[in-house]
Amino acid sequence: MRRFFQWLFMTWPGRGLLALALTLTQYRVFASRTVRMMRFDLFRLRARAATGGRVLIPAHSKLHLGCGSKNPAGWVNADVVDAPVLVDLLAPLPWPDASFQAVVSEHVVEHLELRSELLSLLREIRRVCREGAEVWLSCPSLAAACRAYDEDRAAALLAQRKAKSDRWSSISWIDEMPTQQWINEMFHQAGDHRNLFDFDLLAWALGKAGFGQVVEHPESAIGERFEDFPARRDQLGCITVCAIAV
Ligand SMILES: C[S@@+](CC[C@H](N)C(=O)[O-])C[C@H]1O[C@@H](n2cnc3c(N)ncnc32)[C@H](O)[C@@H]1O
Repeated sequence: MRRFFQWLFMTWPGRGLLALALTLTQYRVFASRTVRMMRFDLFRLRARAATGGRVLIPAHSKLHLGCGSKNPAGWVNADVVDAPVLVDLLAPLPWPDASFQAVVSEHVVEHLELRSELLSLLREIRRVCREGAEVWLSCPSLAAACRAYDEDRAAALLAQRKAKSDRWSSISWIDEMPTQQWINEMFHQAGDHRNLFDFDLLAWALGKAGFGQVVEHPESAIGERFEDFPARRDQLGCITVCAIAV
């Protein structure tokens, strides 16, 4: 029975049934955040079904994981939905061992549970990396969040973020709120964030997965290293590291 349902939900009629059940029940039973998470799980299911357990031979030696809407040329751009390659980061990665010379994943690690999800993903990233490959990760900074709260309830950080060049320069909803709400936003982002990281925590997780020589950089270092890579403009309150597959 279990195998039947596993098979069924990998087919489009099965996923359609799940989507229908979700639509019918959301108004009476589930909170909107539960529905959002279930929708995301449906995307994950669809991404796994798209690969269907096949091994994908990558067209490039650079991997962009959790690419969102950014699809730089010369990279394998992968995300759970609306991406050239659909992938569920909570499942084994679909590429062969030692496929990539570089991996970039910006603002993705904070979306995964450290123990139950992220460590497995980092091990998978290590598996698909060649020895000596570099992995670049960025995310909101635990240290910056704590510092900003302690210093002035994030007032200065928020004021800096409002500067023209920043990713968040146009947000306005926060203007009506006490500035410390920005710290909650960094930690939780409406329930999407699971962990923030400081350098030591990120270096520890990378070390567990077989990466070493972890170095912190400004976000701009990604663009300097890979000229074709679009800037995220998200340096303030965030951390960027590079590690080497050892
Ligand atoms: C904050 S966005 C960052 C997008 C992009 N890297 C950027 O810098 O604009 C986080 C991304 O992680 C992806 N993501 C989160 N969990 C995922 C999962 N289990 N499988 C695949 N992608 C996932 C989301 O779909 C989303 O595109």
